Amino acid sequence: MNKRFYITTAIDYVNGQPHLGHAYEKVIADVIARSRRSLGQDVFFLTGLDEHGQKVQQAALAEGKKPQVYCDELADVWEKFAKKLALTNDDFIRTTQPRHKEIVQASLAKVNAGGHVYKTTYEGFYSTKEETFLTEKDRRPDGTFDPSYGEVIRLKEDNYFFKLKGEQQWLIDYLEANPSFVQPDNRRNEVLGFLRNNELEDLCISRPVARLNWGIPLPFDENYVTYVWFDALVNYITVPAAQGDDTVPKALGAANSRSPAANGQLWPADVHVIGKDILKFHAVYWPIMLKALGLPLPKQIVVHGWWQKDGQKMSKTTGNVVDPIAVIDEWGLDAFRFYVLRELDIGPDGNWTDAGFRARYSAELANGLGNLVNRSLSMLKRYRNGVVPARSDELAADAAKAVAETRANLEQHQLQSALQTIWSLITRANQYVDQTAPFKLAKDPAQAKRLDEVLYNLAETCRVLAVLLWPFLPGTAEKIYAQLGVKGAPEKFASANWGGLAEGHSIGEPAPLFPRKDV
Ligand code: MSP
Repeated sequence: MNKRFYITTAIDYVNGQPHLGHAYEKVIADVIARSRRSLGQDVFFLTGLDEHGQKVQQAALAEGKKPQVYCDELADVWEKFAKKLALTNDDFIRTTQPRHKEIVQASLAKVNAGGHVYKTTYEGFYSTKEETFLTEKDRRPDGTFDPSYGEVIRLKEDNYFFKLKGEQQWLIDYLEANPSFVQPDNRRNEVLGFLRNNELEDLCISRPVARLNWGIPLPFDENYVTYVWFDALVNYITVPAAQGDDTVPKALGAANSRSPAANGQLWPADVHVIGKDILKFHAVYWPIMLKALGLPLPKQIVVHGWWQKDGQKMSKTTGNVVDPIAVIDEWGLDAFRFYVLRELDIGPDGNWTDAGFRARYSAELANGLGNLVNRSLSMLKRYRNGVVPARSDELAADAAKAVAETRANLEQHQLQSALQTIWSLITRANQYVDQTAPFKLAKDPAQAKRLDEVLYNLAETCRVLAVLLWPFLPGTAEKIYAQLGVKGAPEKFASANWGGLAEGHSIGEPAPLFPRKDV
């Protein structure tokens, strides 16, 4: 079976409306997915929702709804949100789907049969908010727990535990031998530091039905449901199994009910895109789970930072949130996608300010890209009736340099650098307009040939830009192609090679890409 490039996002808790942080992560994954497709790879992109657990149960209860009804209503909102962001996901998982329950139960049965699970009485502290058991080590010097844990209660309970003790050294060795497994490097060092300085505690993977019943029943004890994280992480292998990749059912000893080889092999994932707060789950628990399941590890975990708004944590209670839908409705999707990817590299934390957003919109989108495309095509229309003159290669080397650099950036998931590279070509082309002054050339019939050259270089640069921009700003890239009268979508990186516009080709109608806003 051929192996597809398999990329996933975290699956969001369906306990509220989508916000900037969720949108940012999904856009990162979408750009990587689109760019891999553009570069010729066969890609499968997965996103979805994490619907079980206490957070969701409580949110449903607060609205007086049954959890499933509550999830179904919100899932609709989130699936529409994925469309609003123009995500090119190939599947959308919801952890309440039967296909997922089946794989979670098969996974639990396998780790249980393999001797990785035991039952014992736990007595200690429990954070209801984080659904997690806490130990003495989690106490701060003054004896209290971090407020992020919410109310911490004392609990005595029989539960099932997944063995982590003893799994530390191979994981350290693996992280050391595979420097690109967790990226960026500071996140990899964080995981290594954690593993070197702490002894892993076994992970409680059950919750008694009497306390929490919104979850997947343990296949070997119906009095318990599965801990939400053990359930959620499995989503990454549920979908390969559901898509006919037999790697997963073979490892789990489960029946493969789908026609194999129909869609190619997905597992192991090539990239898990996640936020910094859930690194331990992905870089420590998940690899250990996979090893116990007899499955290979994902190739890479790409960890992004967190957004703040105006230097403060975003919080529903204070109203300090960025609503991506409102931004998109006012400014357009591509303006949103551009700002989050250009402003914040994958890794550090970022800060959203409305002033910063407007400044980038106006300088880089309206005056930079928009102005270049609009004046290039308007002049071609006005001076040459929209007919492309003979090929000229004056900007070919600049374009080729941008193409090569963008390709290298995309292969390394350096999305911010790719945008900087693309904008250097935009700046170069805008300077070229100022230097060659086609509006002056047009007044002198003796300069007709020179004007032809300038107009060709500008129109062809716009076409190359459409191809480079497509993974980031798909709507804008498609508009540029349409205004150039080029058929199809600018979705194949190979067509960024110079010389695509043929002499005699008639372009379409120029129109502003990013209307200026007087704000
Ligand atoms: N359900 C779990 C993930 C399970 S993955 C097997 C979860 N959900 S979440 O809704 O709380 O977060 C989903 C993703 O959004 C996480 O990767 C998280 O880091 C990201 N973000 C949530 N708030 C964010 C910001 N303010 N900024 C950037 N990303 C943030 O965790």
